[in-house]
Amino acid sequence: MRILVTGGAGQVGTDLLKRLHADGHAVRCFDLVRRTPGVPDDVEWIRGDVVNPAEVFDCVFEFAPEVIYHFAALLSATGEKRPHGCYTVNMHGTRNVLEAARLAKTTPQVVFASTIAVFGNNLPTPEPEHGVGDDVPLQPTTMYGVTKVAGELLGAYYQKKWGLDFRGVRFPGLINAGIPGGGTSDYALLMYIDGIRYGRYECFVGENSAIPMMYMPDALRALTELSAAPRKNLRRSIYNIGAFSPTAEDFAHAVRARVPGVEITFKADPVRQAILDSWPRAVNDQNANDDWGWKAEYTLDKMSDELVRDLQEMLKHQ
Ligand code: SER
Repeated sequence: MRILVTGGAGQVGTDLLKRLHADGHAVRCFDLVRRTPGVPDDVEWIRGDVVNPAEVFDCVFEFAPEVIYHFAALLSATGEKRPHGCYTVNMHGTRNVLEAARLAKTTPQVVFASTIAVFGNNLPTPEPEHGVGDDVPLQPTTMYGVTKVAGELLGAYYQKKWGLDFRGVRFPGLINAGIPGGGTSDYALLMYIDGIRYGRYECFVGENSAIPMMYMPDALRALTELSAAPRKNLRRSIYNIGAFSPTAEDFAHAVRARVPGVEITFKADPVRQAILDSWPRAVNDQNANDDWGWKAEYTLDKMSDELVRDLQEMLKHQ
């Protein structure tokens, strides 16, 4: 298949490009920045700005993809530092991608990366035992969350009005052996990376903080499985997906158990702590399970074993 990935230099994009290439697809990346080291040479790399409709349209019309994974966005922590930039990239970028898909001859399927940051005020209390469902009030407290709710709604509108095949997942915080970029959930990943690299990490949220988290191999599988699901099986366009919800202290414990002598401390940063506290502790992903068979495979322990081994190997070569 011909597959375009916007924001392909980001945390999810980098790993997805490699996976799609390994699966034999013709892959093109569209990103502002230059090629990420380690991405295979025959993944085509177009430098462009999602905010600029002409650049997005030229890229889509010329490549004629069958699927577009749309990831280009500013995340929650960066978005609070740069709310206007976040609005522009996330809102205009999503609209440009949807519009290009609508107008393209191939009318590609658009797969959207949404997020737990769409949740915020007025969630059910106490939180339901099996996590917050898909259809609770979406009242985010961050610009990032606002733009992602709007992206979900805009995509659903394109689907209803123009028959565009729009689908997406609400990602938990994602953890991989990569470089995170401006998210509030980055503390989990940094605990492993800095713990191994420097032997210490000061976590920017309190030790009892907990939100939904997921290991990247599960996240990539969610994307490709949702993309491959027959449209008739999908009763909705956007799905919660979950895996595990450890506290920050649980993560510290998992790292300490595998990295002797590591020192992990906690010092909450009020802005990021408030963002994190506005998100649910767990999501209910029964709809994803029912409609396209979604189920996470990694637990905290299984992920930690694999991640620590991979990071130790990776950092040896740096
Ligand atoms: N990982 C994202 C963030 O923290 C949530 O989608 O902003």
